[in-house]
Amino acid sequence: RRAAILISGRGSNMVSLIEAARAEDFPAEIALVLSNRPDAAGLERAKEAGIATCVIDHKAHPTREDFEQAMDAALASHAIDFICLAGFMRVLTDWFVERWAGRTVNIHPSLLPLFRGTQTHRRALEEGVLVHGCTVHFVVPELDAGPIIAQAVVPVVPGDTQESLAARVIVQEHKLYPKALRLICDGTARLENGRVVFSRGW
Ligand code: GRF
Repeated sequence: RRAAILISGRGSNMVSLIEAARAEDFPAEIALVLSNRPDAAGLERAKEAGIATCVIDHKAHPTREDFEQAMDAALASHAIDFICLAGFMRVLTDWFVERWAGRTVNIHPSLLPLFRGTQTHRRALEEGVLVHGCTVHFVVPELDAGPIIAQAVVPVVPGDTQESLAARVIVQEHKLYPKALRLICDGTARLENGRVVFSRGW
């Protein structure tokens, strides 16, 4: 199996996926890192790790469809089977999502369905929740609403700030995302009729 990681920024989840995929028994190879931003810090980190990179600058494309056609062509030319969104900050059209249905996953820094969208740590603190965390889910057209593959929970502790909470969550993101990618690439977790079906425990 060949996976692509789509990024827009620093790419710390990308690094954790690249490192995990080096294990001999990992069911996928990270075959491409694609960024929509030429200045994404993660691009350098991917190159250092010896992974093929590609920039599809959304600003260089007149429409969202045009941008996504270019991404789709790049993914096809690298014979990609699975897409991992990892801090990829573009909303995908229904066309792209449907084309890659069941083969695209995202990591989101909250316990979905709570706190879809941005600013999740700030909103968690505002709501006074005592547990928070991260979610890996299949991507569906509605933002951050896809079927859940895996979650990790962290406590919210007195005195937490957005930064301290984010730091606690990202540690779990880096563990969770490789586990979830393993599950989908080896066929343990599949999207069937809009639900995640697990063929065995993990
Ligand atoms: C992570 O918190 C991820 O959950 C969210 O965007 C952030 C990306 O961070 N989707 P990084 O680029 O992986 O370091």
